Amino acid sequence: MSTARLIDPVLQRMEAVEREAKRLSGLIVLDGRFAPALTQETFDVENPGNGEIIGAAPRCRADDVDRAVQVAHRAFAKWARIPARERGALLLKAADRLEAEREGLAQLSSLETGNALATQTRGEATTMVDIFRFFAGLAGELKGVTVPRADGVFLYTKREPLGVVGAIIPWNAPLMQTATKTAAALAAGNTVVLKTAEQAPLAVLKCFEILQSVLPPGVANAISGFGEEAGQALCEHPLVRKVTFTGSSAVGARILHAVADKIVPVTAELGGKNPNIVMADADIERAAKGVIAGLRLQRQGQSCTAGTRIYLHDDVYEPVMERVLAAIPTFRIGNPLDDATQVGSIISRTQRDRVERYVAMARKTPGAKILIGGERPSDPELANGYFYTTTLIEGVPASSPVCRDEIFGPVATVSRWTDFESVLAEANDSAFGLAAVLWTENLRAAFDFVDRIEAGFVQVNQFSVAEANIEYGGTKLSGTGRELSAESLVNHFTWPKTVIVNTAAQ
Ligand code: NAI
Ligand code: MG
Repeated sequence: MSTARLIDPVLQRMEAVEREAKRLSGLIVLDGRFAPALTQETFDVENPGNGEIIGAAPRCRADDVDRAVQVAHRAFAKWARIPARERGALLLKAADRLEAEREGLAQLSSLETGNALATQTRGEATTMVDIFRFFAGLAGELKGVTVPRADGVFLYTKREPLGVVGAIIPWNAPLMQTATKTAAALAAGNTVVLKTAEQAPLAVLKCFEILQSVLPPGVANAISGFGEEAGQALCEHPLVRKVTFTGSSAVGARILHAVADKIVPVTAELGGKNPNIVMADADIERAAKGVIAGLRLQRQGQSCTAGTRIYLHDDVYEPVMERVLAAIPTFRIGNPLDDATQVGSIISRTQRDRVERYVAMARKTPGAKILIGGERPSDPELANGYFYTTTLIEGVPASSPVCRDEIFGPVATVSRWTDFESVLAEANDSAFGLAAVLWTENLRAAFDFVDRIEAGFVQVNQFSVAEANIEYGGTKLSGTGRELSAESLVNHFTWPKTVIVNTAAQ
């Protein structure tokens, strides 16, 4: 160990969390405990902040998936019969245990995702606990209705749990996505097999380890593996009665195909290319802050909610951009585990390559201009990580892939507009329909926008992201189903049964 490592508190923190990553390596969470997988193969887990390998995860295939689903299926018979409020009480206890381990989970997540501890993963760990508590409290509220059909006819509905839920999550906010899927599924009486993302399995496996201290064995299981192997096998397994997925639209479509023959419901929370529109009458300071917030710098733009198509009215273009361009360099890029860091690294070399491809495309586009960023940071300390500067590009035609594709990195386009009908048409001329934001002081314009924008999550004069009790989901290629609300629990994690008991005399 070098002297530098001994005296630098950030490096000491990294050593501790690297030890934890090693401890978690090579195992999956099955039937109440950390267990070896059937497969002998593993894949590396990388710290994208410095390119070092920090651990390994089992490359599960169909046999491991089958074993996990069988375990979850057996556990379902008991879990579903536990009175709902008792299930809720167990989930509350699980939330307490997760809360006690928040800092460790956040650090581990920062190590494997590159998301900054100070601005992303600590808050995400808190949100994770909150989501568990929210769904725990709702467990006893899964009610049916009674229908006043006739005397002597008792007509009612009840909600039944679906069975084994297959959950598949990405790497951009794995703690939050784990909670969103697992807490809702369990509250409704289902059991879970969750497939972690290739790039970030460890913190999620640790979450599931913590859950085992409270939940009956087999209720919450987590595996690692590749999408086309473990993910696909999980979707296709006959005992998986529901798939809940977050990720790319292309994979969302593949999952719908994979379950088509067995006809099971799918929640698919997919990509976005979200318009962030500033009207001429907007509050300039507020809108400029909103444009910045929309860039989701705390996740290097790797957020499906990010406002990556910025449309500024001609009258306010200069004052808004002046503020935005002044603010961006003040965000400190650095080691994700350093408390002083506000912007971490992109998840992987592959993802940074993707970002750089789109920026190169923009550079070659006639009329396009890079206003800020468009390069890796110059700090030599960051050279081995997948860092990238926040990039704004002006003058990209609406038809360009730079304007149309979800890039999923710190890159946004900026356009100038004068005619509201045209900008609204352009905002809606997208394959996606996830989020949209408008900045205006005009109430009529605000509600007109709300009525006509094709997006599942619409905000006026604020930019925030989904959390417990804020229902989330999209339309078009952004997916199907909703998450994080009481209705999502009822509609997407249970099935309805209609019952008629006829006691009338014949
Ligand atoms: P992806 O959609 O390929 O991966 C997400 C999850 O799906 C991972 O756990 C993966 O193993 C799994 N998966 C992949 N193929 C599968 C299959 N055939 N069957 C079942 N599961 C499968 O996303 P990826 O490759 O990490 O990122 C590519 C792009 O996807 C990004 O650039 C971004 O545009 C989009 N994306 C959107 C996210 C969102 O929050 N909406 C999150 C992650 C990625
Ligand atoms: Mg993929």
